[in-house]
Amino acid sequence: MEQGALSTEPGTAWRVSHQRRIEYDLVKAPDLFDPRNHALLSIGRVRGGRRFVVVDEQVARHHGQRIDDYFAAHGVSARIVPFAGGETSKTADAWLDIVRELDDFPIHRRDEPIIAIGGGVLTDVVGFVAGSYRRSVPHIKVPTTLMGYVDASVGIKTGINFNNHKNRLGSFEPPCRVLLDHTLLRTLPRRHVLNGVCEIIKLAVIRDVALFERLEASGDASVAAAFQDAAGGDILDRAIAGMLEELQPNLFEDELERKVDFGHTFSYGLEARHGERLLHGEAVLLDILVSCLVARGRGLLSVADTARIFGLVERLGLEPDFTLLDVDLVWDSLLDRIEHRNGLQRVPLPQGLGACVFANDINRREVASAIAALTHGMAAA
Ligand SMILES: NC(=O)c1ccc[n+]([C@@H]2O[C@H](COP(=O)([O-])OP(=O)(O)OC[C@H]3O[C@@H](n4cnc5c(N)ncnc54)[C@H](O)[C@@H]3O)[C@@H](O)[C@H]2O)c1
Repeated sequence: MEQGALSTEPGTAWRVSHQRRIEYDLVKAPDLFDPRNHALLSIGRVRGGRRFVVVDEQVARHHGQRIDDYFAAHGVSARIVPFAGGETSKTADAWLDIVRELDDFPIHRRDEPIIAIGGGVLTDVVGFVAGSYRRSVPHIKVPTTLMGYVDASVGIKTGINFNNHKNRLGSFEPPCRVLLDHTLLRTLPRRHVLNGVCEIIKLAVIRDVALFERLEASGDASVAAAFQDAAGGDILDRAIAGMLEELQPNLFEDELERKVDFGHTFSYGLEARHGERLLHGEAVLLDILVSCLVARGRGLLSVADTARIFGLVERLGLEPDFTLLDVDLVWDSLLDRIEHRNGLQRVPLPQGLGACVFANDINRREVASAIAALTHGMAAA
Protein backbone atom coordinates (compact mmCIF):
# COMPACT_ATOMS: atom_id res chain seq x y z
CA MET A 1 0.00 0.00 0.00
CA GLU A 2 1.25 3.48 -0.90
CA GLN A 3 2.29 5.68 2.00
CA GLY A 4 -0.64 7.89 3.02
CA ALA A 5 -3.20 5.73 1.23
CA LEU A 6 -5.94 4.32 3.40
CA SER A 7 -6.91 0.68 3.33
CA THR A 8 -10.29 -0.10 1.79
CA GLU A 9 -10.09 -3.81 2.60
CA PRO A 10 -13.45 -5.30 3.62
CA GLY A 11 -13.90 -4.89 7.33
CA THR A 12 -11.75 -1.76 7.46
CA ALA A 13 -13.84 0.76 5.52
CA TRP A 14 -17.29 1.51 4.11
CA ARG A 15 -17.88 3.37 0.87
CA VAL A 16 -20.92 5.51 0.17
CA SER A 17 -21.69 6.19 -3.45
CA HIS A 18 -24.82 7.96 -4.58
CA GLN A 19 -25.85 9.95 -7.60
CA ARG A 20 -28.47 12.64 -7.46
CA ARG A 21 -30.11 13.56 -10.72
CA ILE A 22 -30.49 17.31 -11.25
CA GLU A 23 -33.35 18.17 -13.54
CA TYR A 24 -35.33 21.37 -13.77
CA ASP A 25 -37.02 23.29 -16.51
CA LEU A 26 -36.84 26.93 -17.42
CA VAL A 27 -40.24 27.62 -18.85
CA LYS A 28 -41.60 30.70 -20.53
CA ALA A 29 -44.75 31.77 -18.74
CA PRO A 30 -45.85 35.23 -19.84
CA ASP A 31 -48.54 36.97 -17.80
CA LEU A 32 -47.72 34.82 -14.83
CA PHE A 33 -50.14 36.50 -12.42
CA ASP A 34 -53.20 35.98 -14.59
CA PRO A 35 -55.27 33.42 -12.63
CA ARG A 36 -55.84 31.48 -15.87
CA ASN A 37 -52.09 30.85 -15.97
CA HIS A 38 -51.36 27.80 -13.81
CA ALA A 39 -47.57 27.98 -14.05
CA LEU A 40 -46.98 29.33 -10.53
CA LEU A 41 -48.89 26.39 -9.06
CA SER A 42 -47.73 23.81 -11.58
CA ILE A 43 -45.59 22.05 -9.00
CA GLY A 44 -47.05 20.68 -5.78
CA ARG A 45 -50.33 20.80 -3.95
CA VAL A 46 -52.92 23.31 -5.09
CA ARG A 47 -56.39 23.19 -3.49
CA GLY A 48 -56.07 23.65 0.24
CA GLY A 49 -52.37 24.11 -0.17
CA ARG A 50 -50.06 26.84 1.08
CA ARG A 51 -47.28 28.82 -0.54
CA PHE A 52 -44.56 30.90 1.02
CA VAL A 53 -43.87 33.63 -1.52
CA VAL A 54 -41.05 36.16 -1.27
CA VAL A 55 -41.59 39.13 -3.58
CA ASP A 56 -39.26 41.98 -4.43
CA GLU A 57 -40.74 45.23 -3.08
CA GLN A 58 -40.66 46.92 -6.47
CA VAL A 59 -42.45 43.99 -8.05
CA ALA A 60 -44.98 44.05 -5.21
CA ARG A 61 -45.52 47.76 -5.87
CA HIS A 62 -46.48 47.03 -9.46
CA HIS A 63 -48.15 43.63 -9.12
CA GLY A 64 -48.91 43.10 -5.39
CA GLN A 65 -52.68 43.05 -5.73
CA ARG A 66 -52.55 40.70 -8.71
CA ILE A 67 -50.31 38.30 -6.80
CA ASP A 68 -52.73 38.30 -3.81
CA ASP A 69 -55.68 37.77 -6.13
CA TYR A 70 -53.89 34.97 -7.97
CA PHE A 71 -53.49 32.76 -4.93
CA ALA A 72 -56.97 33.65 -3.62
CA ALA A 73 -58.48 32.66 -6.99
CA HIS A 74 -56.85 29.24 -6.66
CA GLY A 75 -57.88 28.75 -3.03
CA VAL A 76 -54.25 28.64 -1.94
CA SER A 77 -53.29 30.18 1.37
CA ALA A 78 -50.24 32.33 0.63
CA ARG A 79 -47.87 34.18 2.93
CA ILE A 80 -46.49 37.00 0.82
CA VAL A 81 -43.23 38.39 2.20
CA PRO A 82 -41.98 41.66 0.70
CA PHE A 83 -38.20 41.93 0.23
CA ALA A 84 -36.17 45.05 -0.52
CA GLY A 85 -33.87 44.46 -3.50
CA GLY A 86 -30.35 45.82 -3.81
CA GLU A 87 -26.99 44.35 -2.81
CA THR A 88 -27.33 45.68 0.76
CA SER A 89 -30.16 43.17 1.26
CA LYS A 90 -27.95 40.20 0.52
CA THR A 91 -27.11 39.65 4.18
CA ALA A 92 -27.19 37.00 6.86
CA ASP A 93 -29.85 39.10 8.63
CA ALA A 94 -32.08 39.10 5.55
CA TRP A 95 -31.61 35.34 5.19
CA LEU A 96 -32.50 34.73 8.86
CA ASP A 97 -35.49 37.10 8.72
CA ILE A 98 -36.95 35.01 5.92
CA VAL A 99 -36.19 31.79 7.79
CA ARG A 100 -38.09 33.18 10.82
CA GLU A 101 -41.07 34.13 8.65
CA LEU A 102 -41.01 30.67 7.15
CA ASP A 103 -40.96 29.03 10.56
CA ASP A 104 -44.07 31.03 11.36
CA PHE A 105 -45.90 29.65 8.30
CA PRO A 106 -45.44 25.89 8.22
CA ILE A 107 -45.34 24.45 4.71
CA HIS A 108 -45.10 20.85 3.60
CA ARG A 109 -41.49 19.92 3.05
CA ARG A 110 -41.98 18.42 -0.40
CA ASP A 111 -45.13 19.64 -2.14
CA GLU A 112 -45.40 23.30 -1.24
CA PRO A 113 -42.39 24.91 -2.89
CA ILE A 114 -41.20 28.32 -1.80
CA ILE A 115 -41.72 30.85 -4.58
CA ALA A 116 -39.02 33.50 -5.11
CA ILE A 117 -40.15 36.44 -7.27
CA GLY A 118 -37.49 39.08 -7.77
CA GLY A 119 -34.03 40.02 -8.98
CA GLY A 120 -30.75 38.23 -8.50
CA VAL A 121 -30.39 39.39 -4.92
CA LEU A 122 -33.76 37.94 -3.94
CA THR A 123 -33.33 34.64 -5.78
CA ASP A 124 -29.81 34.23 -4.33
CA VAL A 125 -31.05 34.84 -0.76
CA VAL A 126 -34.26 32.83 -1.06
CA GLY A 127 -32.39 30.04 -2.84
CA PHE A 128 -30.09 29.90 0.18
CA VAL A 129 -33.13 29.80 2.48
CA ALA A 130 -34.48 26.88 0.44
CA GLY A 131 -31.11 25.13 0.57
CA SER A 132 -30.67 25.53 4.30
CA TYR A 133 -34.17 25.37 5.76
CA ARG A 134 -34.75 21.89 7.14
CA ARG A 135 -31.76 20.79 5.07
CA SER A 136 -33.48 21.78 1.82
CA VAL A 137 -37.01 22.44 0.67
CA PRO A 138 -38.04 22.91 -2.99
CA HIS A 139 -38.21 26.36 -4.54
CA ILE A 140 -39.36 28.02 -7.74
CA LYS A 141 -37.55 31.05 -9.17
CA VAL A 142 -39.27 33.86 -11.03
CA PRO A 143 -36.65 36.37 -12.24
CA THR A 144 -37.90 39.93 -12.52
CA THR A 145 -34.68 41.70 -13.54
CA LEU A 146 -32.68 41.21 -16.70
CA MET A 147 -29.74 40.10 -14.54
CA GLY A 148 -31.96 37.42 -13.03
CA TYR A 149 -33.54 36.47 -16.34
CA VAL A 150 -30.34 35.70 -18.24
CA ASP A 151 -28.02 34.82 -15.37
CA ALA A 152 -28.87 34.62 -11.67
CA SER A 153 -31.95 32.42 -12.01
CA VAL A 154 -30.52 30.16 -14.70
CA GLY A 155 -28.07 28.11 -12.63
CA ILE A 156 -28.12 26.57 -9.16
CA LYS A 157 -25.94 28.92 -7.11
CA THR A 158 -27.34 30.67 -4.08
CA GLY A 159 -25.57 33.03 -1.74
CA ILE A 160 -25.38 35.87 0.71
CA ASN A 161 -22.56 38.29 1.34
CA PHE A 162 -20.67 37.80 4.59
CA ASN A 163 -17.64 39.24 6.34
CA ASN A 164 -17.07 41.78 3.54
CA HIS A 165 -17.01 39.04 0.92
CA LYS A 166 -19.53 38.56 -1.82
CA ASN A 167 -21.38 35.24 -1.74
CA ARG A 168 -19.17 33.98 1.09
CA LEU A 169 -22.03 31.81 2.35
CA GLY A 170 -24.16 29.90 -0.07
CA SER A 171 -24.91 26.60 -1.66
CA PHE A 172 -25.65 24.80 -4.87
CA GLU A 173 -29.40 24.40 -4.73
CA PRO A 174 -31.30 23.51 -7.90
CA PRO A 175 -34.72 25.09 -8.20
CA CYS A 176 -37.59 22.80 -9.11
CA ARG A 177 -38.56 25.21 -11.89
CA VAL A 178 -37.69 28.63 -13.28
CA LEU A 179 -40.62 30.61 -14.68
CA LEU A 180 -39.75 33.22 -17.27
CA ASP A 181 -42.19 36.09 -17.74
CA HIS A 182 -40.35 38.70 -19.79
CA THR A 183 -43.24 41.16 -19.39
CA LEU A 184 -42.13 41.65 -15.78
CA LEU A 185 -39.05 43.44 -17.15
CA ARG A 186 -41.26 46.29 -18.42
CA THR A 187 -41.03 48.20 -15.15
CA LEU A 188 -37.27 47.78 -14.76
CA PRO A 189 -35.36 51.08 -14.58
CA ARG A 190 -33.01 51.63 -17.52
CA ARG A 191 -29.92 51.35 -15.33
CA HIS A 192 -30.98 47.84 -14.33
CA VAL A 193 -31.74 46.90 -17.93
CA LEU A 194 -28.19 47.93 -18.81
CA ASN A 195 -26.90 46.05 -15.79
CA GLY A 196 -28.26 42.80 -17.22
CA VAL A 197 -27.00 43.67 -20.69
CA CYS A 198 -23.43 43.53 -19.34
CA GLU A 199 -23.83 39.79 -18.68
CA ILE A 200 -25.17 39.32 -22.21
CA ILE A 201 -22.13 41.16 -23.60
CA LYS A 202 -19.98 38.81 -21.54
CA LEU A 203 -21.47 35.76 -23.23
CA ALA A 204 -21.32 37.37 -26.66
CA VAL A 205 -17.64 38.29 -26.45
CA ILE A 206 -16.38 35.07 -24.90
CA ARG A 207 -18.47 32.45 -26.70
CA ASP A 208 -21.05 33.68 -29.20
CA VAL A 209 -20.20 35.99 -32.05
CA ALA A 210 -23.76 35.72 -33.49
CA LEU A 211 -25.10 37.07 -30.22
CA PHE A 212 -22.57 39.89 -30.46
CA GLU A 213 -23.81 40.71 -33.97
CA ARG A 214 -27.42 40.76 -32.78
CA LEU A 215 -26.48 43.17 -30.02
CA GLU A 216 -24.76 45.34 -32.60
CA ALA A 217 -27.76 45.23 -34.94
CA SER A 218 -30.62 45.88 -32.54
CA GLY A 219 -29.41 45.86 -28.93
CA ASP A 220 -29.93 49.60 -28.48
CA ALA A 221 -33.60 49.33 -29.53
CA SER A 222 -34.09 46.33 -27.25
CA VAL A 223 -32.60 48.25 -24.32
CA ALA A 224 -35.02 51.12 -25.02
CA ALA A 225 -37.89 48.60 -25.13
CA ALA A 226 -36.73 46.79 -21.98
CA PHE A 227 -36.45 43.67 -24.18
CA GLN A 228 -40.16 43.55 -24.94
CA ASP A 229 -39.46 43.65 -28.70
CA ALA A 230 -39.15 40.53 -30.87
CA ALA A 231 -35.43 41.01 -31.56
CA GLY A 232 -34.88 41.53 -27.82
CA GLY A 233 -36.72 38.28 -27.14
CA ASP A 234 -34.36 36.46 -29.49
CA ILE A 235 -31.37 37.97 -27.71
CA LEU A 236 -32.73 36.77 -24.35
CA ASP A 237 -33.38 33.25 -25.67
CA ARG A 238 -29.89 33.02 -27.12
CA ALA A 239 -28.31 34.33 -23.92
CA ILE A 240 -30.15 31.80 -21.75
CA ALA A 241 -29.35 28.92 -24.11
CA GLY A 242 -25.68 29.93 -24.18
CA MET A 243 -25.54 30.26 -20.44
CA LEU A 244 -27.04 26.80 -20.02
CA GLU A 245 -24.59 25.26 -22.46
CA GLU A 246 -21.81 26.52 -20.20
CA LEU A 247 -23.45 25.71 -16.86
CA GLN A 248 -25.09 22.36 -17.46
CA PRO A 249 -21.95 20.21 -17.87
CA ASN A 250 -20.37 21.92 -14.88
CA LEU A 251 -23.26 22.69 -12.55
CA PHE A 252 -21.23 22.22 -9.37
CA GLU A 253 -18.12 23.94 -10.75
CA ASP A 254 -15.88 20.91 -10.43
CA GLU A 255 -14.10 22.35 -13.48
CA LEU A 256 -12.68 25.72 -12.44
CA GLU A 257 -11.92 26.99 -15.93
CA ARG A 258 -15.28 28.56 -16.71
CA LYS A 259 -15.96 30.82 -19.67
CA VAL A 260 -18.79 32.42 -17.72
CA ASP A 261 -16.17 33.73 -15.29
CA PHE A 262 -15.19 36.21 -18.01
CA GLY A 263 -15.67 39.58 -16.33
CA HIS A 264 -15.72 38.01 -12.87
CA THR A 265 -12.09 38.28 -11.79
CA PHE A 266 -11.35 41.97 -11.25
CA SER A 267 -15.02 42.80 -10.68
CA TYR A 268 -14.94 40.95 -7.40
CA GLY A 269 -12.75 43.55 -5.67
CA LEU A 270 -14.53 46.42 -7.41
CA GLU A 271 -17.87 45.28 -6.06
CA ALA A 272 -16.49 44.74 -2.58
CA ARG A 273 -14.99 48.26 -2.50
CA HIS A 274 -17.66 50.18 -4.43
CA GLY A 275 -20.78 48.15 -3.71
CA GLU A 276 -22.69 51.30 -2.80
CA ARG A 277 -22.37 52.79 -6.28
CA LEU A 278 -21.56 49.93 -8.59
CA LEU A 279 -24.08 47.30 -9.68
CA HIS A 280 -22.89 43.75 -10.33
CA GLY A 281 -23.14 44.07 -14.11
CA GLU A 282 -21.39 47.44 -14.05
CA ALA A 283 -18.46 45.90 -12.21
CA VAL A 284 -18.47 42.97 -14.65
CA LEU A 285 -18.32 45.40 -17.58
CA LEU A 286 -15.26 47.17 -16.15
CA ASP A 287 -13.62 43.76 -15.75
CA ILE A 288 -14.56 42.77 -19.31
CA LEU A 289 -12.92 45.89 -20.69
CA VAL A 290 -9.75 45.46 -18.64
CA SER A 291 -9.62 41.81 -19.76
CA CYS A 292 -10.12 42.80 -23.41
CA LEU A 293 -7.18 45.18 -23.22
CA VAL A 294 -5.02 42.53 -21.60
CA ALA A 295 -6.07 40.22 -24.45
CA ARG A 296 -5.25 42.88 -27.01
CA GLY A 297 -1.85 43.44 -25.40
CA ARG A 298 -1.15 39.73 -25.84
CA GLY A 299 -2.24 39.76 -29.47
CA LEU A 300 -5.27 37.57 -28.69
CA LEU A 301 -7.73 40.24 -29.71
CA SER A 302 -7.17 42.37 -32.79
CA VAL A 303 -7.30 46.15 -32.67
CA ALA A 304 -10.41 46.00 -34.88
CA ASP A 305 -12.26 43.54 -32.62
CA THR A 306 -11.33 45.54 -29.54
CA ALA A 307 -12.75 48.65 -31.22
CA ARG A 308 -15.95 46.71 -32.02
CA ILE A 309 -16.38 45.77 -28.37
CA PHE A 310 -15.89 49.34 -27.19
CA GLY A 311 -18.18 50.53 -29.99
CA LEU A 312 -20.93 48.16 -28.86
CA VAL A 313 -20.61 49.31 -25.27
CA GLU A 314 -21.06 52.89 -26.41
CA ARG A 315 -23.92 52.15 -28.79
CA LEU A 316 -25.85 50.36 -26.07
CA GLY A 317 -25.57 53.45 -23.88
CA LEU A 318 -23.29 51.97 -21.26
CA GLU A 319 -21.04 54.44 -19.49
CA PRO A 320 -18.46 52.52 -17.46
CA ASP A 321 -16.87 54.60 -14.73
CA PHE A 322 -13.15 54.03 -15.32
CA THR A 323 -12.22 56.31 -12.42
CA LEU A 324 -13.10 53.39 -10.11
CA LEU A 325 -10.28 51.29 -11.56
CA ASP A 326 -7.40 51.21 -9.14
CA VAL A 327 -4.42 49.01 -9.95
CA ASP A 328 -3.91 47.75 -6.38
CA LEU A 329 -7.56 46.96 -5.96
CA VAL A 330 -7.85 45.18 -9.28
CA TRP A 331 -4.62 43.23 -8.77
CA ASP A 332 -5.64 42.17 -5.24
CA SER A 333 -8.91 40.98 -6.66
CA LEU A 334 -7.03 38.72 -9.04
CA LEU A 335 -4.95 37.35 -6.15
CA ASP A 336 -8.14 36.62 -4.23
CA ARG A 337 -9.61 34.80 -7.23
CA ILE A 338 -6.47 32.65 -7.44
CA GLU A 339 -7.39 31.28 -4.00
CA HIS A 340 -10.97 30.79 -5.16
CA ARG A 341 -9.77 28.92 -8.26
CA ASN A 342 -7.50 26.45 -6.49
CA GLY A 343 -4.21 28.26 -6.89
CA LEU A 344 -4.32 29.27 -10.55
CA GLN A 345 -5.54 32.47 -12.21
CA ARG A 346 -7.74 30.70 -14.76
CA VAL A 347 -8.74 34.09 -16.19
CA PRO A 348 -10.89 33.78 -19.33
CA LEU A 349 -9.61 36.07 -22.08
CA PRO A 350 -11.20 36.52 -25.50
CA GLN A 351 -9.29 35.00 -28.38
CA GLY A 352 -10.92 36.83 -31.22
CA LEU A 353 -14.61 37.55 -30.86
CA GLY A 354 -16.61 34.58 -29.63
CA ALA A 355 -13.77 32.36 -28.43
CA CYS A 356 -11.80 32.02 -25.23
CA VAL A 357 -8.49 31.01 -23.69
CA PHE A 358 -7.61 30.77 -20.03
CA ALA A 359 -4.58 32.68 -18.78
CA ASN A 360 -2.58 31.74 -15.71
CA ASP A 361 0.27 34.21 -16.15
CA ILE A 362 -1.25 37.69 -16.22
CA ASN A 363 1.17 40.08 -14.56
CA ARG A 364 0.60 43.31 -12.71
CA ARG A 365 2.17 45.40 -15.45
CA GLU A 366 -0.36 44.18 -18.02
CA VAL A 367 -3.22 45.04 -15.71
CA ALA A 368 -1.73 48.46 -14.93
CA SER A 369 -1.26 49.26 -18.59
CA ALA A 370 -4.86 48.22 -19.42
CA ILE A 371 -6.16 50.44 -16.63
CA ALA A 372 -3.97 53.34 -17.73
CA ALA A 373 -5.35 53.07 -21.27
CA LEU A 374 -8.92 53.06 -19.95
CA THR A 375 -8.50 55.95 -17.55
CA HIS A 376 -6.73 58.05 -20.18
CA GLY A 377 -9.38 57.35 -22.81
CA MET A 378 -6.91 55.53 -25.06
CA ALA A 379 -8.57 52.12 -24.96
CA ALA A 380 -10.25 52.02 -28.34
CA ALA A 381 -7.30 53.63 -30.10
N1 LIG B 1 -26.63 32.98 -8.52
C1 LIG B 1 -26.00 33.35 -9.61
O1 LIG B 1 -25.54 32.52 -10.39
C2 LIG B 1 -25.88 34.81 -9.94
C3 LIG B 1 -25.52 35.20 -11.23
C4 LIG B 1 -25.47 36.57 -11.52
C5 LIG B 1 -25.74 37.49 -10.53
N2 LIG B 1 -26.05 37.06 -9.28
C6 LIG B 1 -26.31 38.03 -8.22
O2 LIG B 1 -27.44 38.81 -8.58
C7 LIG B 1 -27.36 40.02 -7.85
C8 LIG B 1 -27.77 41.17 -8.74
O3 LIG B 1 -29.07 40.92 -9.23
P1 LIG B 1 -29.99 42.12 -9.75
O4 LIG B 1 -29.20 43.01 -10.60
O5 LIG B 1 -31.21 41.49 -10.26
O6 LIG B 1 -30.25 42.94 -8.41
P2 LIG B 1 -31.53 43.14 -7.47
O7 LIG B 1 -32.17 41.83 -7.18
O8 LIG B 1 -31.09 43.95 -6.33
O9 LIG B 1 -32.54 43.98 -8.38
C9 LIG B 1 -32.15 45.25 -8.83
C10 LIG B 1 -33.20 46.33 -8.50
O10 LIG B 1 -34.34 46.14 -9.31
C11 LIG B 1 -35.52 46.15 -8.50
N3 LIG B 1 -36.47 45.32 -9.25
C12 LIG B 1 -36.52 43.98 -9.34
N4 LIG B 1 -37.45 43.59 -10.24
C13 LIG B 1 -38.00 44.72 -10.72
C14 LIG B 1 -39.00 44.99 -11.70
N5 LIG B 1 -39.55 44.00 -12.41
N6 LIG B 1 -39.34 46.28 -11.95
C15 LIG B 1 -38.73 47.29 -11.28
N7 LIG B 1 -37.76 47.12 -10.37
C16 LIG B 1 -37.40 45.83 -10.10
C17 LIG B 1 -35.06 45.63 -7.17
O11 LIG B 1 -35.92 46.06 -6.13
C18 LIG B 1 -33.70 46.29 -7.06
O12 LIG B 1 -33.83 47.61 -6.61
C19 LIG B 1 -25.94 40.16 -7.33
O13 LIG B 1 -25.92 39.98 -5.94
C20 LIG B 1 -25.21 39.03 -8.02
O14 LIG B 1 -24.17 38.52 -7.24
C21 LIG B 1 -26.14 35.75 -8.97
